[in-house]
Amino acid sequence: MAWRSLLPWRCGCCVRSAGGEGRYITFIIDPLQYVSLTKLNKYLEFEEFADNISSRIFNYPSILKGNFPDLSENVHRNYQYLKGKSLDALSDSMIKNLQCIFKKRFSQATDWETEKMNKFCFSVMFEASFITLYGRDPSADGHNVVDAIGDKFTKFDANFSYLAANIPIELLGSTKRIREELIHYFLPNNTSKLLGVSEVIQARKDLFEMYEVLGDYDKAAHHFTFMWASVGNTIPAIFWTTYYLLRHPEALAVVRDEIDHLLQSTGQETGLGYSIRLTREQLDNLVYLESALNESLRLCSSSMNIRIAKEDFAFKLEGNQEVSLRKGDFIVIYPPILHMDPEVYEDPKKYKFDRYVENGKKKTTFYKQGKKLKYFLMPFGSGSSICPGRFFAMIEIKQFLVLLLTYFDIEVVGEKEVGHDKSRLGLGILLPDSDIDFRYRLRPAPKARPPPSSEARCL
Ligand code: HEM
Repeated sequence: MAWRSLLPWRCGCCVRSAGGEGRYITFIIDPLQYVSLTKLNKYLEFEEFADNISSRIFNYPSILKGNFPDLSENVHRNYQYLKGKSLDALSDSMIKNLQCIFKKRFSQATDWETEKMNKFCFSVMFEASFITLYGRDPSADGHNVVDAIGDKFTKFDANFSYLAANIPIELLGSTKRIREELIHYFLPNNTSKLLGVSEVIQARKDLFEMYEVLGDYDKAAHHFTFMWASVGNTIPAIFWTTYYLLRHPEALAVVRDEIDHLLQSTGQETGLGYSIRLTREQLDNLVYLESALNESLRLCSSSMNIRIAKEDFAFKLEGNQEVSLRKGDFIVIYPPILHMDPEVYEDPKKYKFDRYVENGKKKTTFYKQGKKLKYFLMPFGSGSSICPGRFFAMIEIKQFLVLLLTYFDIEVVGEKEVGHDKSRLGLGILLPDSDIDFRYRLRPAPKARPPPSSEARCL
């Protein structure tokens, strides 16, 4: 069959459209077929495609085309520091930093204070993430991090989708200058003064030092890339989880109750001055919190999983179907198709905070056409390009919410609904299209014991 005659083309499980430069894009729309795609690594590639886009957006020399032997493999090996014991240390540092930020900024909030919700989530989480990963400047208030680079980050991020779409940066106003300033922030003479750098970033620094051919600017651009990856999706995910919880008081009550119960049962004092420490296992057992988070991810994640055919081949699908692909063609999983499938998720447009809970336990069985799905929630991508920060992301988002709900009474002000900013479609967690007022005040601590001076010590 001639390729042209395939356009526009659709079978029960795929849709194909033209992708420019004579390439076709085949979307797998049947989630039962996702497994077949993950078995095709021999024929499909992603790395070169990602390297092209990422090096252009973040302005570092292509890892694959430059003279950097094994750099790509080494960068991927470095992601081991986002697992196991290193992840424990990272998570521990994150919750300490979050508590210090909450304590420093909000210990006076005994009366209702009104703020913009997205701005609030951004400022707390950006500072906490930066300090946890890159370390703290001992001579500056941590809040300066947000002042110095947070605003620039927001401006750069606002144009991210244009950069991803290959719009020349020169046409995007001050974006080029802002990118330079952000990259400069990560130059060795700036980052070397930061104390308490995480293992993952220290190992990344050590790795780049092994490549003499990488200049200081290039190394800084790599660090900026990682920084973007570490907050670019996490902060909007935090916004949406908080937003949906506050918009659904019945969900908020259940999640808050679950958290209170855990803290009480582990004998932890909950005032702003006390340290709250939660193991990964304890966080993992907060099934309603996790479900509320997953439900928000289901509704707002839109990252496309892209692969490119390395050669002509026939992609064999479940049920004796087959799709012919030519070298260079794209094959794509677009998770919102799964996330909004009414056969998989009843009432898919509705927020149901306990969708991922069954009989008080995590629900991990979802079906299509009576068959159990291996992939039912895909905010973090899949297969070889799955997000290496996914475990940390889930932990830090839960930590943020545990502290927020423990320390504060919170509620949305007004009836305004926030929608998705569609410009990010295909690229990750969608940003909110506007901000919304919410108010918070410190919850009275259940016990009156004053915190010992060693508790929640902040530098
Ligand atoms: C809710 C939060 C997050 C979401 C939804 C998310 C999602 C994703 C997705 C979908 C990808 C793959 C992109 C692709 O296939 O093109 C990715 C890649 C990546 N993510 Fe995340 N991510 C999150 C948080 C994080 C965090 C907290 C970190 C680090 C601490 C991180 C580090 C990375 C890195 C380094 C990559 C590139 C991996 C590579 O080199 O192949 N992410 N993320």
